Amino acid sequence: MKIIVCGGDGFCGWPISLHLSARGHEVVIVDTLVRRAADRELGVDSLTPIRALDERLAAWRAVSGRSIPWHAIDLAHAYDDLLALLVRERPDAVVHLAEQRAAPYSMKSPRHKRYTVDNNVNATHNLLCAVVESGIDSHVVHIGTMGVYGYGSGGGTMIPEGYLAVEVPTADGQGRIEREILHPTDPGSIYHMTKCLDQQLFYYYNKNDKLRVTDLHQGVVWGTNTAETRLDDRLINRFDYDGDYGTVLNRFLMQAAVGHPLTVHGSGGQTRAFIHIQDTVRCLSLALENPPQRGERVRILNQMTETHRVIDLARMVSAMTGADIQHLDNPRNEASRNELPAVARSLISLGLEPTHLQEGLLEEVIGVARAYAHRCDKSRIPCTSKWTTS
Ligand SMILES: NC(=O)c1ccc[n+]([C@@H]2O[C@H](COP(=O)([O-])OP(=O)(O)OC[C@H]3O[C@@H](n4cnc5c(N)ncnc54)[C@H](O)[C@@H]3O)[C@@H](O)[C@H]2O)c1
Repeated sequence: MKIIVCGGDGFCGWPISLHLSARGHEVVIVDTLVRRAADRELGVDSLTPIRALDERLAAWRAVSGRSIPWHAIDLAHAYDDLLALLVRERPDAVVHLAEQRAAPYSMKSPRHKRYTVDNNVNATHNLLCAVVESGIDSHVVHIGTMGVYGYGSGGGTMIPEGYLAVEVPTADGQGRIEREILHPTDPGSIYHMTKCLDQQLFYYYNKNDKLRVTDLHQGVVWGTNTAETRLDDRLINRFDYDGDYGTVLNRFLMQAAVGHPLTVHGSGGQTRAFIHIQDTVRCLSLALENPPQRGERVRILNQMTETHRVIDLARMVSAMTGADIQHLDNPRNEASRNELPAVARSLISLGLEPTHLQEGLLEEVIGVARAYAHRCDKSRIPCTSKWTTS
């Protein structure tokens, strides 16, 4: 298959691009490197020394003998360039990861809120609009988030894969009709809100233009290396640890490695869904190799392998490493405790063999963090974004 990976320089996009290339697909990356610019804005850098994208791609050519061309096209603002690329390349599929993906960054200031909405919503809409205008039948595969369902109590219900079966009264009030509707959204940040808006864009273009779309509602990703990024130091993946882009489990593992207390926001009763980066990569290839038919509704799959309470993860890392646990005020406006029972069967039925949290893999992440501990700026560990002004 020919596959364009939008956001192919990012934490998920880089290992996904390498994996698809290693599987023999023809991969083209689209990325403006705006994520690297955000690091400069925040005065932080990936804990791992990621190479410039040109160097990464040259290293991949040397290691695998395969080329991955790269185009610096801004999905949100360079519509004509995006359209021209689609017309020229005629990809079988487009993977869409080119969004601002940090909830704390999206809440930093009015400027960051507006940037996140402008970037994410326009990027998604431009891509869908351009696929239709180009006249090609590309399968669009997007990574969304489990956060679109919200992190409320759930009231004892199970979160389905995208669609909720409901009964509605008939117009004459005499009977009830069964329907399947998009699961109601409950965003917990501006970032999550953009992913909810993405869902509506997919719904519309699928209904109106018969676009083939898979939306992967992903959990929090942990880990750093995959089979391909391990092949050469120059292929190393990004490792975010700062208060904006660092994700919870990787932050705990890295904090333990550099001798920093594990920063638990609030009580730590928040439950989140998790997935290892190697499974992210595998899920993408499964989704691409099993596309929906034309005319099929948007395929929504929950891309997660397990759920955990934040405090339980902190206790587990503490037991492994002896690190202290520090409870800090929670900057987020969220329930102090939630459940997250969710169905995640589809990717397993397509062939995913889930990687679960296990000491060996956790030790590997700690090892990577220890190797690059000298690159850590501890002043960047706290989360300084606030959800509300009061
Ligand atoms: N990392 C996680 O834990 C996680 C969890 C759930 C969902 N996701 C989703 O997966 C996707 C990828 O996440 P990630 O962690 O790799 O993020 P990332 O920030 O590391 O990568 C995103 C990439 O997209 C590029 N980009 C952003 N806007 C662009 C634009 N307008 N035009 C061109 N390029 C643009 C960035 O430069 C970056 O390289 C995101 O959509 C994110 O919401 C990530």
